[in-house]
Amino acid sequence: MDVRHGDLMDRIYRHQRHIYDLTRKYYLLGRDELIAALTPPGQGSVLEIGCGTGRNLLAVRRRYPKAHLYGLDISEEMLVTARQNSLGRNIAYAKADAADFDPMELFGEASFDRIFISYALSMIPSWQAVLASAAKMLAPGGELHVVDFGQQEKLPRAFRTALRAWLAKFHVTPRAHLREVVEQLARQSGAKVEFAVLRGGYAWRLVLRRATIEERSAA
Ligand SMILES: C[S@@+](CC[C@H](N)C(=O)[O-])C[C@H]1O[C@@H](n2cnc3c(N)ncnc32)[C@H](O)[C@@H]1O
Repeated sequence: MDVRHGDLMDRIYRHQRHIYDLTRKYYLLGRDELIAALTPPGQGSVLEIGCGTGRNLLAVRRRYPKAHLYGLDISEEMLVTARQNSLGRNIAYAKADAADFDPMELFGEASFDRIFISYALSMIPSWQAVLASAAKMLAPGGELHVVDFGQQEKLPRAFRTALRAWLAKFHVTPRAHLREVVEQLARQSGAKVEFAVLRGGYAWRLVLRRATIEERSAA
C-alpha cells in the first residue's frame, strides 16, 4: 500500500466527499455511457477500481440488478461515503491500493467479468501497473472499461491550458499514453481494444476485451 498516496487522497477528499457527486456531475463526462456499455452477464461480477463515493456502482446496481458488485479505493474517507450511500444495495467495498491488491483476499473472487476505472488513473502515479494487473484479473470474455481525461486534442489551446492548470490543483494528470498502454496490454494477451474520443478529447473511453476460451482455442 502506498501510504503517502493514500494519505494525500484522504486529505483531498476529507471535505470534498460531501459535495463530490454534485460538483463532478457536469465535468466527469462519459461515466454513464461507460456504465451503459458494461452489460455484464446476468449474475456476473463487476469491480470498480477507485470507486470514490460509490456513485458509479450505485448506477451499475440500478441497471444490472443481479450482478455481484465490488468497489475498492485507497481513501477511507471516500469509502465512508460509499458505504453510507450504498446501504442495502449489496455492494462490497474495500480499502486497497489499485496498484497492489489480491482480489481473492479482498473480495473472495479470483477474476471479474467486468472491471472499470473511471477518472482514477489520472490520479494514480503507477497507473500503468494498475492497468496491467486489472487486465490479468479479467475472466475469459471479460472486459476492462476505462474513462478518463483525454488530451483535449480538438479543443482550443486556451481551454486545454486552463483545464490542465485546474486539474493539477487536484493532483490530476491526464495520461497522454493511455491508449498506447492499453493497446500494448491487449497485444500481449490477445485481447481487443476499442477507443473513443469524447467531446474533442475532453475525455477518452477505452474497452479492452479478453478473448473467450472458445476464441482462444480457435485462434
Ligand atoms: C476522481 S475520483 C473518481 C471516483 C469515481 N471513480 C468516479 O468516477 O466518480 C478518483 C478516486 O480514485 C481513488 N484513488 C486514487 N489513487 C488510488 C489508488 N492508488 N488505489 C485506489 N484508489 C485510488 C481516489 O481516492 C478517488 O476516490
